[in-house]
Amino acid sequence: MNILVTGGAGFIGSHTVVELIAAGFEPIILDDFSNSDPKVLDRLESILGRKVKSYSANCNDADLLTKIFREEQIQGVIHFAASKAVGESVERPLLYYRNNISALVTLLEAMTANGISNLVFSSSCTVYGQPEIIPVTEETPVLPAASPYGNTKQVGEEIIRDTVAAKPGLKALALRYFNPVGAHESALIGELPIGVPANLVPYVTQTAIGIRSKLMVFGKDYATPDGTCIRDFIHVVDLAKAHVKALELLVKQNDANYYDYFNIGTGTGTSVQELIDTFERVTGVKVNYEFAPRRAGDIMEIYAEVSKSRDLLGWQAEKTLDEALADAWRWQQRLAN
Ligand code: UD1
Repeated sequence: MNILVTGGAGFIGSHTVVELIAAGFEPIILDDFSNSDPKVLDRLESILGRKVKSYSANCNDADLLTKIFREEQIQGVIHFAASKAVGESVERPLLYYRNNISALVTLLEAMTANGISNLVFSSSCTVYGQPEIIPVTEETPVLPAASPYGNTKQVGEEIIRDTVAAKPGLKALALRYFNPVGAHESALIGELPIGVPANLVPYVTQTAIGIRSKLMVFGKDYATPDGTCIRDFIHVVDLAKAHVKALELLVKQNDANYYDYFNIGTGTGTSVQELIDTFERVTGVKVNYEFAPRRAGDIMEIYAEVSKSRDLLGWQAEKTLDEALADAWRWQQRLAN
């Protein structure tokens, strides 16, 4: 079954391409390489022992989408292509609304016009904001978004839900990712932050290898056991496998108006301090860090309740944080050579 993977050269997209092929799907990548490296295509070929077909273009190109749907006989879409930096989204909201909302609308128009039935959408735990009760279930209320980026994920889910309701035959589900970390065990693909990383794990690995002189830990005075924020860090390969399960669930779904959403996390909260300690233990490398004031917009604590994913999607995280950090470190070392 041919699956269009938008953003397939990106961090989560590239790992999902590997898992799709392992599960017998045929991924076709659409990526504009605005936040990814074309070399990823060669790296995928090294892992897979074969080429993956790809198109270098933006998702806002409606004519190209229609051409790909017809010529490649696409039967499903996994839509990763989006901008994802919270801070940048505050400074450049229209870029986010174009890349994340306008492109989604274009994609849905092209899918419905061409009778493409199955869509998996990259959403985020950011839709929950700072929840009152933890862990968060899928019934936890969605709170007003704290950034244009967060808003694009909330509105994106609503646009898909409304379109599915209006267009029998279109089935979709949204995966609400918690914090993806790690890299492929081959160390051939992983996260490729452009410039100074905004996310914790690439900042940790870049500090450990000496690219950054010091990691700032944002906040030591939160109401958590060690005073640092708590997140649910999930190995990117586990996250990739959730997309395969999502696609399989969609394909066998008889409800012509099927739409649902799932938390994709480990179910375990880990503090920023614990993550640094784990990294040092697993790699044997010390991280130079100091505590700094809280970062604006950070929530104190969030992790997933995962029984819905386990029961309905048939998916649960298998890899440990130790494995994720060891893999992230091998990837960082590979990048340096
Ligand atoms: C953010 C987004 C999330 C998105 C994710 C991956 C929000 C609220 N969160 O998650 O939707 O999926 O990025 O792109 O929109 N930290 C430090 N020092 C650093 C970097 C981070 O102490 O140099 C801390 C942060 O304060 C936070 C934790 O590490 O407590 C995780 O931060 P980060 O990796 O940026 O992810 P989130 O903000 O949780």
